[in-house]
Amino acid sequence: MKILVTGCAGFIGSHLTARLLKEGHEVIGVDNFDIFYSRSQKEKNLMPVLLNSKFKLEEDNLATMSFVKVLKGTEVVIHLAGQPGVRGSWGASFGRYLTNNIQVTQRLLEESKGSKLKRFIYASSSSVYGDVPVPEGTEAQFLNEEMKVQPKSPYGVTKLAAEHLCQLYNVEYKMPTVALRFFSVYGPGQRPDMAFHRFCQSILREAALSIYGDGKQVRDFTYVDDVVDVIVASITADVVGQVVNVGGGSPCTLLEAVTILEEISGTTCAKTFLDRQKGDVISTQADTTKLEKLFGFKPKVTLREGLTREWEWMKKFVQSEDDEIAIKANVQPIIGVDQEAIAQVKADEKAGKKAAKKAKTNAAKKDPAQAELTDAPAEPNESNG
Ligand SMILES: NC(=O)c1ccc[n+]([C@@H]2O[C@H](COP(=O)([O-])OP(=O)(O)OC[C@H]3O[C@@H](n4cnc5c(N)ncnc54)[C@H](O)[C@@H]3O)[C@@H](O)[C@H]2O)c1
Repeated sequence: MKILVTGCAGFIGSHLTARLLKEGHEVIGVDNFDIFYSRSQKEKNLMPVLLNSKFKLEEDNLATMSFVKVLKGTEVVIHLAGQPGVRGSWGASFGRYLTNNIQVTQRLLEESKGSKLKRFIYASSSSVYGDVPVPEGTEAQFLNEEMKVQPKSPYGVTKLAAEHLCQLYNVEYKMPTVALRFFSVYGPGQRPDMAFHRFCQSILREAALSIYGDGKQVRDFTYVDDVVDVIVASITADVVGQVVNVGGGSPCTLLEAVTILEEISGTTCAKTFLDRQKGDVISTQADTTKLEKLFGFKPKVTLREGLTREWEWMKKFVQSEDDEIAIKANVQPIIGVDQEAIAQVKADEKAGKKAAKKAKTNAAKKDPAQAELTDAPAEPNESNG
């Protein structure tokens, strides 16, 4: 199958691209290497697939590019590109969320509504739920797809708006859309703004862990390969028109996750508790009943196993970052013009001309005719004769 993956250089997109190619699909990946985090990390993400003859990378901006080429012959669109991050979505940067999450999704839906797609899979988020009120004395609820959604951050608002757009195009244009609500995805290649990536960096750099709030917020951490399994299954499963939670199945508090990371790394970390961030919800635990019913399976990688894999990747990643910094520090920049070198070249030129003149004079003394030929310029049109 020919599959378009948007955001192919990102965390989830690069894992997905590798899997699709492994399964024999042809992948056309679009990414603009957005400045939200380093291009170098995204290039590393794509390393394993760049030389695959069935992969084609289009570096372009989905907000402005023409889709004619990338949609030609495409059977499935998997739309992961977007502006992630809850905390950054307040204030002036909201424009980035509007463009990359809502407008880009609308453009993609509009442009592909005429083509005979088998699936249009959209990466939604648990952030659409917001804080579901918990009656006093009861446990936090597992979030299910039928619940009233009430995003608590501008990011969540934009992800929900794009989800609604997918549903609209499904109803009005019979587009085969499905929205998957991912819950806190982690694993090798994780974005640098996400908690586990930051925690591993701090441990490796022997710095204190910065934790927003009291660390008791509950998250349903989901390993990236499990997410990829669900996305791939959505290509053929009977899920058109659906909204489905993709949660890891073993929710825990941030502090419990930190304890596991401390055990894996063999380090007891100093912790700095920072103010709770606007938009951070208290608990996101996925009800995965619908996921199991529609797909016949649920995520299987445990938090300890997944965190071990992320920790191993982070050790290599931090080392590669340090190596890059060291290489850059050793390169001597050329600033301005080297006047000394220019003066030397001029002196050499002068000495050369002087020596040639002397040689010519000496030769003329011996044989005047030969002396004329030594430095005579070639005639124009010399090839004619
Ligand atoms: N990682 C998570 O925990 C999580 C949870 C819920 C939902 N999601 C959603 O999943 C998707 C992928 O998340 P991720 O963590 O891999 O993020 P990511 O930032 O690593 O990947 C997104 C990619 O999209 C690209 N992109 C952004 N705007 C673009 C544009 N206008 N044109 C072309 N490319 C563009 C970026 O360069 C980036 O490589 C996002 O839509 C995100 O909202 C992620």
